[in-house]
Amino acid sequence: MSAAANWWQTGIIYQVYPRSFQDSNGDGVGDLAGIIARLNYLHSLNVDILWLSPIYPSPMHDFGYDVADYCAIHPLFGTMADFDRLLAEVHARGMRLLLDLVPNHSSHLHPWFIASRSARDDPRRAWYIWRDPAPGGGPPNNWLSHFGGPAWTFDEASGQYYMHQFLPQQPELNHRHPEVLPAILDCMRFWLDKGVDGFRVDVIGMLLKDPLFRDEPENPSWNGVREYQRLLHVHTANLPEVHALIRRMRAFLDGWDDRLMIGELYLPNADLVRYYGDEQGAECHLPFNFQLIRAPWDAAVVRHLVDAYEAALPRHAWPNWVLGNHDQKRLASRVGSRQARVAHMLLLTLRGTPTCYYGDEIGMLDVPLPLALMQDPPALRQPEIAHLVGRDPQRTPMQWDASANAGFAAAGVRPWLPLAPDCGAHNVARQLADPSSALAFFRAMSALRRAEPALASGSYRSLDAGKPDVFAYLRGDPGNALLVLLNFAAEPRCPVLPLSCAAADLLLSTTMTPPRRVSLSQLVLAADEGMVLRLPVAGCVA
Ligand code: GLC
Repeated sequence: MSAAANWWQTGIIYQVYPRSFQDSNGDGVGDLAGIIARLNYLHSLNVDILWLSPIYPSPMHDFGYDVADYCAIHPLFGTMADFDRLLAEVHARGMRLLLDLVPNHSSHLHPWFIASRSARDDPRRAWYIWRDPAPGGGPPNNWLSHFGGPAWTFDEASGQYYMHQFLPQQPELNHRHPEVLPAILDCMRFWLDKGVDGFRVDVIGMLLKDPLFRDEPENPSWNGVREYQRLLHVHTANLPEVHALIRRMRAFLDGWDDRLMIGELYLPNADLVRYYGDEQGAECHLPFNFQLIRAPWDAAVVRHLVDAYEAALPRHAWPNWVLGNHDQKRLASRVGSRQARVAHMLLLTLRGTPTCYYGDEIGMLDVPLPLALMQDPPALRQPEIAHLVGRDPQRTPMQWDASANAGFAAAGVRPWLPLAPDCGAHNVARQLADPSSALAFFRAMSALRRAEPALASGSYRSLDAGKPDVFAYLRGDPGNALLVLLNFAAEPRCPVLPLSCAAADLLLSTTMTPPRRVSLSQLVLAADEGMVLRLPVAGCVA
């Protein structure tokens, strides 16, 4: 697949964390009517595809990733009529809507688990993963929860343990039982029939576990900090047979026209690209590529990882890049506010579908919280490393304007998480009025991406920039080539480029200086500056 033809290839994905986007009914939690009220803003960002974190009924132990009903809307977020209106309004703007599908585990309050737990001989018993205690008592094996503690909880009433790789309130479905996948597919059908454009599938690589329930080996390079990392998860994630299951999900989705399936996977290239599937069977259109989130922010490292990913992609696979999500420290907190613009220029000029996280377009920062105000379960379950594992700081309410509660909720309402202390000055309204703001830059960059086929679908080639700290690459064809120069340093840099032309047209700079013709031999990138330039039609690129 060389040229981008589909909406999910050319479009920009934007993740909305519904709890934190816009409250419309005064309960301090964002909702669907709030998202509808902000659709024109989202449209103005030139983003094309909205992905909503879970909006289903849930006791909210993991803030919606514990689903109690896959085919309904949590009253906290609104009604099914609100959802239908949201979908229609998104489509009316030419945009698409993705839901979050959580097939690996349900809530402990899902009727399936309530039945499963009710008796050993209940027909739903084997829909979940139940095991007898180990011979000497205690959990059946050494498997661990991502959120701290064992991956097993004892059920007194039935005398067995059930498995959960997250909270005890998130029991794992048994995808080796023949009825479980069809039950999940039925839930997909419900939303696909409504016209939802696809799904981001939660922890898609974890759907199957070792049928022999063998202990996981110790991780020889464990640093002693996160308990979960003490083991190598060879029996609970990325089992070879999971691919067949994912192929069935994809084949089912392909029963509807033009829908999208994204998989959440944190994997090295060789393992990640297997989740595209192959000629025998398609899997994810986009297995999420999180490398830009995890890599040290260094030009040489980033060049290497982009080149290595491009080289690892199978011929039929379309690339994708992600800068942030609700599980990761915020972009501007990771790389700094100035480099956050460079990172957005990178994201929006690389080959492949970009994914952004709400608020990053205005450079929102993590909001540090004292333990007493934290709500995220991994933090509460591991208080000694709460600041390392807690995800509340990156989930705080969107900063809209200088009014009470930054426009997220009405005056006098207490938002579910505190707003950033500087939200009176750091917000959408302020940045809309400032032509050199992060937001103005984001909009200009996303507009440029939309306007330039070389960015949406052209080829990619990195260049030696002759200086450390500069990442340089070409997009497009020799007849229509754009040059991207990114200065990762907080000092000016003068790249020395292997190009034969003397001048180029600067289309956009992260500094928002006006477009102009520049000399390539005397080019100076300011500290933290990124540039997109158009090269002359002929004689520049070999
Ligand atoms: C995914 C979600 C995360 C959630 C976990 C369990 O990693 O992104 O927020 O806690 O799955 O569902």
